[in-house]
Amino acid sequence: MGSVKLAPSILSADFARLGEQVREASEAGADYIHVDVMDGRFVPNLTIGPLVVAAIRPHTSLPLDVHLMVVEPEHLIRDFVSAGADKVTVHQEAVPELRRAVHLIKELGATAGVAISPDTPASTLDEVIADLDLVLVMTVNPGYGGQPFISSVLPKVRRVREMIEAGGFTAELEVDGGIKKDNVATLVEAGADVIVAGSAVFNDRSSVAVALGELRKGIGA
Ligand code: DX5
Ligand code: ZN
Repeated sequence: MGSVKLAPSILSADFARLGEQVREASEAGADYIHVDVMDGRFVPNLTIGPLVVAAIRPHTSLPLDVHLMVVEPEHLIRDFVSAGADKVTVHQEAVPELRRAVHLIKELGATAGVAISPDTPASTLDEVIADLDLVLVMTVNPGYGGQPFISSVLPKVRRVREMIEAGGFTAELEVDGGIKKDNVATLVEAGADVIVAGSAVFNDRSSVAVALGELRKGIGA
């Protein structure tokens, strides 16, 4: 499992020096920069818009992995891709016509993901999984960083991995929420190949480089 990717979520970064924090994560060997977009409607919290994505774009050459926790994301996809998003993920629960959103993301030249919240079954992906570049299985309820990992989601991570293998699909399997150095191995064993981590990477206890190193050690890679 040496190919597991780490995607630090800037939600827990110091927003007053976001460019610097993104550079720190990039220099420390992150694989993607995860950007949590929240609209105050799909989730209560309000975070980042396309302007902020454009502002961090010059600070890294890594793919910007934009997680849209918004209602009607179709209206925002173009602006985020223009701002520099490489990967755009919409929530299954927020989009009545998933296929249309996925194709719009791809037409604009980005890679397309669909996220499912903890209570959403894997079967909701059946009709679109073949077209996806990424499936994001949330391991907390979307909305905030620093929440505890919901371990009852683990069987669903395994199920999505099986769906991808059984169909011969190419989607990456990303997991997001409450992931730390001591539970990251469980997720990798369940089949995750992209690990999002916010508060485990950006915190007052250690540098971004040390925190990313600990996560890698936790995976055993
Ligand atoms: C939650 C976000 C996550 C969050 C992860 O809604 O999607 O990306 O930032 O933060 P931690 O790793 O602190 O749970
Ligand atoms: Zn996220």
